[in-house]
Amino acid sequence: MNSNKVLKLKHYNRSDAYESCLSPSKPIYFGHNILHHLESHVATLNPDKVFIITDTNVAKLYGDTIKAQLLNRPNHLVTFNAGDQNKTLQTIETLAEKVLEAGCSKNSLILNLGGGLAMNLGGMLASLLYRGIRFIHVPTNFIGQTDVVLSNKQGVNTFGGKNLLGMYSSPEFSLVDTSFLQTESKRSKFAGIAESMKNALILKSDFYAYMKKVLKSSINDVDMHELAKKTFEQKLSICKRDPTEKQLGLSLEYGHTIGHAIEILSKGDLLHGEAVYIGMHISAEIALQLGIMNQSDFKEHQAFLKSIKISSKIPKSITMDKILIAIQKDNKKTGSQPAFILLKGLGELHQIGGQLQTMVPKKIIEDCIRPYLS
Ligand SMILES: NC(=O)c1ccc[n+]([C@@H]2O[C@H](COP(=O)([O-])OP(=O)(O)OC[C@H]3O[C@@H](n4cnc5c(N)ncnc54)[C@H](O)[C@@H]3O)[C@@H](O)[C@H]2O)c1
Repeated sequence: MNSNKVLKLKHYNRSDAYESCLSPSKPIYFGHNILHHLESHVATLNPDKVFIITDTNVAKLYGDTIKAQLLNRPNHLVTFNAGDQNKTLQTIETLAEKVLEAGCSKNSLILNLGGGLAMNLGGMLASLLYRGIRFIHVPTNFIGQTDVVLSNKQGVNTFGGKNLLGMYSSPEFSLVDTSFLQTESKRSKFAGIAESMKNALILKSDFYAYMKKVLKSSINDVDMHELAKKTFEQKLSICKRDPTEKQLGLSLEYGHTIGHAIEILSKGDLLHGEAVYIGMHISAEIALQLGIMNQSDFKEHQAFLKSIKISSKIPKSITMDKILIAIQKDNKKTGSQPAFILLKGLGELHQIGGQLQTMVPKKIIEDCIRPYLS
């Protein structure tokens, strides 16, 4: 199957508008080759200037394209160095200085262009400038278009922990154009798809069967628009039921307790989705050891994960001791101990007294991490 041909015939120019979770009046436009709608949506906000926040890679690929879309509207491209090690308060301060120097006012608009990093940094920047100015998201990679775009969480890493500083705030609108995915690397697409697999595991709806089918194909044969749209709709259904991620929404953190720890310890070597992928493997081991998940579900869970080519090995530089310290800084911790989202079975969340977070004895955490160390 030639995916490009199919995309042109099936999806070209079509844009669907979805209500976002926290603010239904703030739409998400989703389609293929829909970037030419950007200016008309921006025009409804009537900003005095637009500041495009993006990383150095995406700036090279799409900086000029976006600037051209904004026609004669005053705009500035403001870049930061790519890589999650730059998800810091210092980067926010540097960006703030750059946009203020270029004349950002309370009526300006921040346009976040890129992956999760640009969206989380730019969202936080906008929320802090003048105590909050408007922002929009134009995500360019799979995880950005299917996952981050649906979350209203903005933030940076600090104190050795992921997203420990941040806030909830919503973009005025988001424009998801899956034609951006054509330049995304296979590795990055796979990392994004790992988060789709997580959603498939926690709900085990038709989407699970669909993902199993997709994972049997070569990525070049997969209609990425369709996969992105289905993943997006799947996560939207969870977010709609729990927009502030306190109950069902918290299940989206499956694999993230270990995932976030090894992502930050890898200092940019592991992509977010790759770290979560390892985190899901270890979470299933924990559920098995605690007697929460049975052998047959465990086998199916691990086999499903193995159907994508991502390494389940933790990089060599990351030791057990470092992981045990890093999980103490998990941002969903409510007590003194780090907690885990666990599955009882595929599509079945483990709960105690209505709580999704389970405390796990240190010895079991260590035993379950050990096989995944390099
Ligand atoms: N709920 C949320 O807000 C949420 C959810 C998931 C992840 N995140 C955060 O998002 C970040 C991870 O996101 P990420 O993996 O997108 O990282 P990222 O933004 O650093 O992007 C990864 C790489 O992809 C490149 N890229 C992006 N679009 C491209 C394109 N179209 N073509 C070629 N290259 C492209 C970028 O330049 C970058 O090098 C982490 O900080 C994570 O904590 C947040």
